[in-house]
Amino acid sequence: MPGPAYNPRVSTDLRVENLEKEFRMGDQCVAALRGIDLSIEQGEFVALMGASGSGKSTLLHLCGGLDAPTAGLIEIEGHDLAKMSDRERTLFRRKRLGVVFQAFNLLPTLTARENVALPLLVAGVKNGQSADKTDKLLDSVDLLHRADHRPDALSGGEQQRVAIARSLINDPVLILADEPTGNLDSKHGAAIWRLLKELCKTQKRTILAVTHEAAGAAYADRVLVLKDGLLVGEIKPRGEDDAALVAARCQELAG
Ligand SMILES: Nc1ncnc2c1ncn2[C@@H]1O[C@H](COP(=O)(O)OP(=O)(O)OP(=O)(O)O)[C@@H](O)[C@H]1O
Ligand SMILES: [Mg+2]
Repeated sequence: MPGPAYNPRVSTDLRVENLEKEFRMGDQCVAALRGIDLSIEQGEFVALMGASGSGKSTLLHLCGGLDAPTAGLIEIEGHDLAKMSDRERTLFRRKRLGVVFQAFNLLPTLTARENVALPLLVAGVKNGQSADKTDKLLDSVDLLHRADHRPDALSGGEQQRVAIARSLINDPVLILADEPTGNLDSKHGAAIWRLLKELCKTQKRTILAVTHEAAGAAYADRVLVLKDGLLVGEIKPRGEDDAALVAARCQELAG
């Protein structure tokens, strides 16, 4: 009798359990996250919505190992972030994660092309070997024609697209993006959401993206809604044109 069919284990890329984050400033204490549980499978595209101050960026920063939680667990590909040393966490982030911040953090003295290539250069890849990949990514965010310009010669939206290209240069397994289209017009915004979706579906990348835009969240497989540091619900868009449903459900859940 033949053995059981090969059944590749569906790996959970990101697992968060009972995550809490308090910010203390003198006597004051802000409970930014108050017990978050979530699990994202490999190849899943998850959007995170919620009012300003609900804890979205805090959650993303913790998942990227950029700040430590007050309590709770974060595992990426089975690795517990809290069990890594600072150096291990930095190397892990460099190799496995792609992070797009709310502030783009481009280096002002480098051109767009150099900014995108920087993570590869830091990782020791030779300039010549990174050129092709860098230009492909710049092209995918519609900026190849501005490759030699420095950030101060680019608009806010263009800088944002450079930052997105940079976050993808190391072929990250997990992409954490904080309002990646916040500065973009609807045409370039839609192009970024399509690019992110494509990365998930064709290359099995996992994405957690914060957004205020229902039109962007509609590209995701699931939309998680955060309110006052707690996850209050989940929306499953039926397709990219489902922005109206996403907006209405999000309003119901978080409003
Ligand atoms: N470093 C910090 N020190 C003190 N409080 C902080 C700090 N960072 C965030 N907070 C507080 O934690 C809460 C959540 O902030 P967070 O930045 O995660 O919100 P957000 O959902 O990303 O909001 P937005 O949509 O405006 O970006 C807010 O009340 C914020 O003021
Ligand atoms: Mg934020």
